Amino acid sequence: MSNLCTVSFPGSDYEPIILECHDNLSEHLTIQNSPVLFGCRTGICGTCLVEVIGDVPPPQPDEQEMLDTLAPNIANARLACQLDLTQNIEISTIQK
Ligand code: FES
Repeated sequence: MSNLCTVSFPGSDYEPIILECHDNLSEHLTIQNSPVLFGCRTGICGTCLVEVIGDVPPPQPDEQEMLDTLAPNIANARLACQLDLTQNIEISTIQK
């Protein structure tokens, strides 16, 4: 049996999305089904900056460097395209 992970978007009108755990969010979240926007999908443009509630693996050094620049004061900021989905999470967009 495969593991499923739910991605929800509290505070928005978007319905939760159920994905296979470890699915790449940038391949499954679209402008139709989520408030998250993507650009480069490789962790360098910062378009997909979000706040994440949920226990996901910490950022790799490259992602951390971007987060330190883009959102130094937001402890749970992440780049959605770099996230390893390991359990149910909640995502909120960050006003830039
Ligand atoms: S889409 Fe560019 S950093 Fe995630």
